[in-house]
Amino acid sequence: MSERDTPRIIPVLDQRGYGLALPPVMPPLQANGHVQDTRGRPLRDLRISVTDRCNFRCNYCMPKDIFDKDYAYLPHASLLSFEEITRLARQFVALGVQKIRLTGGEPLLRKNLEKLIEQLAVLRTLQGQPLDITLTTNGSLLARKAQSLRDAGLQRVTVSLDGLDDAVFRSMNDVDFPVADVLEGIDVARQVGLGANGGLKVNMVVKRGTNEQQILPMARHFKGTGTVLRFIEYMDVGATNGWRMDEVLPSAELVQRINAEWPLLALEPCAPGETAQRWGYADAAGQHDGAAGEIGVISSVTRAFCGDCNRARLSTEGKLYLCLFAAQGYDLKPLLRGEASDADIASVLGRIWQGRSDRYSELRSSLAPDTGSARRRVEMSYIGG
Ligand code: GTP
Ligand code: 5AD
Ligand code: SF4
Ligand code: SF4
Repeated sequence: MSERDTPRIIPVLDQRGYGLALPPVMPPLQANGHVQDTRGRPLRDLRISVTDRCNFRCNYCMPKDIFDKDYAYLPHASLLSFEEITRLARQFVALGVQKIRLTGGEPLLRKNLEKLIEQLAVLRTLQGQPLDITLTTNGSLLARKAQSLRDAGLQRVTVSLDGLDDAVFRSMNDVDFPVADVLEGIDVARQVGLGANGGLKVNMVVKRGTNEQQILPMARHFKGTGTVLRFIEYMDVGATNGWRMDEVLPSAELVQRINAEWPLLALEPCAPGETAQRWGYADAAGQHDGAAGEIGVISSVTRAFCGDCNRARLSTEGKLYLCLFAAQGYDLKPLLRGEASDADIASVLGRIWQGRSDRYSELRSSLAPDTGSARRRVEMSYIGG
């Protein structure tokens, strides 16, 4: 056996092969449309992962020592095709989905993604409206692709960016990628119209002791640009990032730090089930200064937002996850590649959602550390953010 063939021991349990039993095809418990889960939460937001690969190695998501050249990414044949994704999306929309977010890994690595966007852009919600179609990207390919994405029907985009300082950014993406290229991607996205109506968002994961010194420079940079900067508490998602509570910078502390520099005031949520709490920059009279704009904080660790979580996640190979922290998903591929009709698929999806009770972030602190749940979670690069 050559060194190359020697089996490597990867210190995590790979949950991707497992699947939950699908419910039988039966009429949904409620009439078609607007299904609710066991906690009364509707299904509104579908996040579709189109690849489990990424060209970055952010330590909190795809640490280099695990996601190395020997890591077993999904083989091409197991990926859902764009037609399969669109077929599923159509059934999700029939159950009340209004927003679709394409994620990864890095979604812009998926070839011809524009074709998928074109197919999704023609779907209409139950109210007859176009879907809100968006995408989460690390921005590395955005300057090159923004125009074609926009032409295909993408309405807005969220760019992940963990700092402005080139050295900090290069070390966080861990592939020495320069920050200037991501900033250029953001500019081009704005120029082609992906930032219209506040559509352009920048997400910064904050790790205490790693990039917290970037909070004020990031706020200063995006203040008054129309781009909404959102700070995300570093989460215990997946099983590989070695998460520790002392590396979480609570959003309350972060808001205080920004408020000390530029006074902030709390804004009302834009939509039910929103992940971020909004804070507006105040003017001299203490009112919201619309021109200066707003920031958001996403506080999954210190202020869970499961109560109205309306998000479903579809993995690259067609497994449906009901929570970011779920250990297992429902494998929909046999339905897609078997005899099931569209109505059968809608019935199964409806029943799965109706059985949902997930609320991991709310339960996090009460879960015994020795339950081993952390070792069973799927990776965020597999089901998307
Ligand atoms: P917009 O519609 O653009 O406001 O998007 P969004 O609020 O759905 O946010 P986005 O997809 O940009 O998510 C931002 C980050 O919040 C993700 O990268 C995750 O870190 C976190 N996040 C998103 N959804 C969930 C969720 O359901 N649960 C938890 N715990 N975290 C989430
Ligand atoms: N904690 C918080 N957010 C994370 N993301 C990935 N891993 C984590 C984590 N451990 C999110 C970030 C990034 C997106 C692609 O996924 O928001 O921008
Ligand atoms: Fe890639 Fe985004 Fe994960 Fe970073 S956070 S490794 S850019 S998928
Ligand atoms: Fe939704 Fe799970 Fe996140 Fe709670 S932890 S908000 S249920 S995805």
